[in-house]
Amino acid sequence: MSKFIINGGQKLSGSIKIHSSKNAILPILAASILTEGDVEIYDVPMLDDIKIMVEILKYCGCRIGETNNNLTIKPNVVNNDINIEMVNKLRASVLLLGSMLSRCKKVVLGMPGGCNIGTRPIDLHIKGLTKLGAEIKLNQGYIEARAKKLKGEKVYLDFPSVGATENIMIAAVLAEGETIIENAATEPEVVCLANFLNSMGAKIYGAGTDTIRILGVDKLHSVSFIPIPDRIEAGTYMAMAAVCGGEIEITNVVIEHIRPIIAKFKECNIKVIEGENAIKVFSTDKIKPTDIKTLPYPGFPTDMQAPMMSMLTVAKGTSMVIETIFENRFLHVGELLKMGANIKLEGRVAIVEGVKRLTSAKLEAKDLRGGAALVIAALMADGTTEIEGIEHISRGYFELEKNILSLGGDIKRIV
Ligand code: EPZ
Repeated sequence: MSKFIINGGQKLSGSIKIHSSKNAILPILAASILTEGDVEIYDVPMLDDIKIMVEILKYCGCRIGETNNNLTIKPNVVNNDINIEMVNKLRASVLLLGSMLSRCKKVVLGMPGGCNIGTRPIDLHIKGLTKLGAEIKLNQGYIEARAKKLKGEKVYLDFPSVGATENIMIAAVLAEGETIIENAATEPEVVCLANFLNSMGAKIYGAGTDTIRILGVDKLHSVSFIPIPDRIEAGTYMAMAAVCGGEIEITNVVIEHIRPIIAKFKECNIKVIEGENAIKVFSTDKIKPTDIKTLPYPGFPTDMQAPMMSMLTVAKGTSMVIETIFENRFLHVGELLKMGANIKLEGRVAIVEGVKRLTSAKLEAKDLRGGAALVIAALMADGTTEIEGIEHISRGYFELEKNILSLGGDIKRIV
């Protein structure tokens, strides 16, 4: 396992540019096979998860070129049997159900994977696609799906699942008639997918609200598209800035998308200056405690729970963190305790008692956002911290070391 060696205690200052959002690009890649025309996606950070999705599409027959982080996809699909190892390396591969059913009317797909932050069922994906006319069979380790024709229907989501909303939207754009998704996810990444599909000629209305209407069309055409910036990458660097001294300018952000995060930082007495599409975050050693409850957008994002918890370990008081979205998203707590943090877990609730400082330790990243939380903790702690399992972190943070070094942090990757 490769690891980070981090010498903490350095003041971080300077400016970093946020990359396009992993969680916006992954559904867009899955949806790119809905057209026969060329698909261009600009400013794509070649993160491990994105590389895997590209490899899966190539396995299906697509020709994909990459120059200076711009992807050009010729979505030439010749193979719809994708029961392969790569598919269970990431969660977003499940979105190929919707696009393959729409394009090929039949698909064999390996089970999706993703961070081990919960059981991560796909019942809502299956409920929605079945409603549109698909027959889906779950076998040992793979899914068989077929649909003579996809027909528009009204689908109610028991939970505003981001992935299920995206999968149903992808399957509905070329289905016959109208589809209505009720209790839909309103995350910016869902809106970005709708904008991508509409720029290919789809007719999607209401994305960003809890009711999305999709009028099926006959065909989608080529597109060139710039995805939204990554709101979670931005929030992660905000947490880093808050606890590592100095001030950091974070550019290429959509303020609206990080409004819930900014609000919480201000509650913690962290100075945040908002610009047009940039923010400045000023560190303080008087972080106020706060209570966090993760909720679907526009609530506080679950992907920011771990990075925020790292920050709260040195707040001047007690914070309560409630994780309502995933049932196993406190894997970073055990590692933070090794650094002297004072955290008590009771089910989905973590009580974080602020301590003066964290101390360095040997740690292991267990999932993507928990791993990022450990990097934040190591950067603020005195001494040298080792973090193993950093392949989890490379899935979602592009050029992390390069950015931290440019801000004055001391981090090395040992392969
Ligand atoms: C997306 O995952 C993101 N991943 C996650 O980011 C993010 O945490 C999550 O949305 C919530 O915002 C990508 O976009 C690739 P969900 P997804 O379906 O679609 C339950 C990261 O760190 N559920 O909204 O899998 C599920 O178990 C990752 O970048 C069902 O019960 O999230 C969970 O408890 C982690 N049945 C809740 O809904 C289903 O069919 C939210 O899941 C689907 C989901």
